[in-house]
Amino acid sequence: MLESLRSVVRLKSFETDAVARRLGSAANVDDLRRIAKRKLPAGVFDYIDGGAEDEMAMARNASRFADRTLVPRVLRNVGEVDASCKILGRRHKMPLILAPTGFPRIAHPDGELATAGSAADHGVPFTLSTMGTRSIEEVADVSAGSKWFQVYVWRDKALVKDMLDRARESGFEAICITIDTAVLGRRERDVRRGMAMPPKLGLDTFVEGALRPGWVWEFLRNDPIIFSNVAVSGKRLGGNFADGTSAVSLAEFTVEQFDPGLSWDDVEWIRSQWGGPVVLKGVQSVADAKIAADSGIEAVALSNHGGRQLDSSPAIIDLVSPVADAVGGQTEIYCDGGVRRGSDVVKALALGANACMMGRPHLYGLAVGGKAGVDHVLDFFQSGIERTMALSGVTSISEIDRNLIEGF
Ligand SMILES: Cc1cc2nc3c(=O)[nH]c(=O)nc-3n(C[C@H](O)[C@H](O)[C@H](O)COP(=O)(O)O)c2cc1C
Repeated sequence: MLESLRSVVRLKSFETDAVARRLGSAANVDDLRRIAKRKLPAGVFDYIDGGAEDEMAMARNASRFADRTLVPRVLRNVGEVDASCKILGRRHKMPLILAPTGFPRIAHPDGELATAGSAADHGVPFTLSTMGTRSIEEVADVSAGSKWFQVYVWRDKALVKDMLDRARESGFEAICITIDTAVLGRRERDVRRGMAMPPKLGLDTFVEGALRPGWVWEFLRNDPIIFSNVAVSGKRLGGNFADGTSAVSLAEFTVEQFDPGLSWDDVEWIRSQWGGPVVLKGVQSVADAKIAADSGIEAVALSNHGGRQLDSSPAIIDLVSPVADAVGGQTEIYCDGGVRRGSDVVKALALGANACMMGRPHLYGLAVGGKAGVDHVLDFFQSGIERTMALSGVTSISEIDRNLIEGF
């Protein structure tokens, strides 16, 4: 009996590396989210995970992806599937872009150095936020891949211009102008936790962090977290707003910079200063997509900031086909908000998008395992896109069209 038992039971070797063990147990983004929740102080997790007000936009982003179904074709020889595609004229390994996220070193000390490195290894563009915690130059040092720089329309134009100059000098290929932040959304989890935006780490974060000693230890032994891009430009311009020694003073300065007076003229000014490809991020209507396309902007990113701004905004996947009907072919179309699987990317492409962006999934991965965690997320998306394509009967991105979506 022991013999027959031995013939069917294979003991798995125990994974001694804790990060590899955690990642090995994460079958999807939701699993990573749960592990990140256990690792991070509650205020930090909620800052990353939360949305505005009742979090309806955030929930709708996800549920409307789930509502869509694919119409698979079978018996089509899917032995070789190629998910590569062109984004802004350059070939990438899959139609996915790492969305800009502020303050990523709050999730893991390696922050953008890990995310940018992982994006380069996976052949997808990485977008560095203006509110990033590693500078344009530091990111350029670790990544020879596609790098985009995200810009807010700020009051201090000299500061914006200096960051654009630095991005150009450091080989960034495109900028992403975020236009959905005339004022900041009300993120009520942050209000409850007393977590200001941008976040300030108060005593309560550390008290709560006593339950997460690993995070507190990493936080204390690493470089202070500052808005590095603002700090570097501040020094170059000789301003007194950004000496880089205090995260809080920088944070206050940054909040003051958001300009509710922003308009299409500001977008034109930034375009003229940059002189290269522009992605307009935060478009949420056909009307605005048309203005962008008619003015020659290279790409629009349909986005409600992951449900962190206007809580009554439309689910992003619902915008894709109307916008594609209006401006497809005239400008590239990306979308983000609730993209959690390869199948979501395939659905967005079938409706007319050229690529998807994603934010929280890579931050959960970063929190769980630094660069290895982001690698895990990007591998998960790559295999998910390829598997969905194979199961739907398509072998290249150009074959993905509306015939693949139920109801068209
Ligand atoms: C923690 C966090 C910080 C963010 N910071 C920025 C930012 O600095 N600039 C920006 O344009 N968008 C920012 N976003 C929005 C993302 O770029 C993206 O639109 C959003 O995360 C997409 O939704 P998803 O998280 O469901 O994928 C942030 C999102 C999160 C979750």
